[in-house]
Amino acid sequence: MIYNQGKFIALEGLDGSGKTHACNLLKNILRKHKIQNIIIREPGGTPLGENIRNIIKNLHPYEIIHPKTILLLIYASRMQLIQNIIAPALKNNIWIISDRYELSSFAYQGGGFKIKKELIIFLHNIIVQSYTPDLTIYLDVIPKYALQRIIQRGKLDQIEKNNIHFFTRIRNIYLNLITQNDNSITIDANLKIDIVQKDIKNKFKKWLRTCKIHGIRG
Ligand code: TMP
Repeated sequence: MIYNQGKFIALEGLDGSGKTHACNLLKNILRKHKIQNIIIREPGGTPLGENIRNIIKNLHPYEIIHPKTILLLIYASRMQLIQNIIAPALKNNIWIISDRYELSSFAYQGGGFKIKKELIIFLHNIIVQSYTPDLTIYLDVIPKYALQRIIQRGKLDQIEKNNIHFFTRIRNIYLNLITQNDNSITIDANLKIDIVQKDIKNKFKKWLRTCKIHGIRG
């Protein structure tokens, strides 16, 4: 939060928690308030980052990809995104809505793949520095529902193929870290989609009023 111009909002949650819908919802709210914004996603969001995304999501039957390799690839993608998209956008008063950000690394790589958090913090200090979100919206869903939803969606990627224990570890880290984060909103994403969307809208609009932006009444 080194900038006093554009704001940076990150959406977090398990696969199947409804983040992508939520991003579009926020985009529409911001648009109604005439706030210029872009949606980005992680990993990805730049040409190199999208290549990294393919490596991470695709199955590699002939080579074992070590979890630490994935972690480094994710931070390489993040570096590109910060330098080429996030920093310039915020400087130009363009708001960022990010479909996942660094909390995913702590939850997936730290919780799911059991990588020591010290290594993630080390990478954070080198790469992310002050480019942390002004607001993180966490969509909480129990692993059983998340898995049902991703199976319904169709073919599973490399990460989605993991078992319920993997997703339970991820959720536990999310819940633990989100309660320590003052700049966050938690949504119960187990409920019906229209109720979830209403909750996101109400809580986000409330937060928006605290930003004291010209034209948005407090
Ligand atoms: P998604 O965009 O469909 O959610 O897919 C991205 C996948 O990448 C998802 O399974 C979570 C994973 N991921 C990590 O493991 N660590 C990270 O830091 C990020 C951003 C994503």
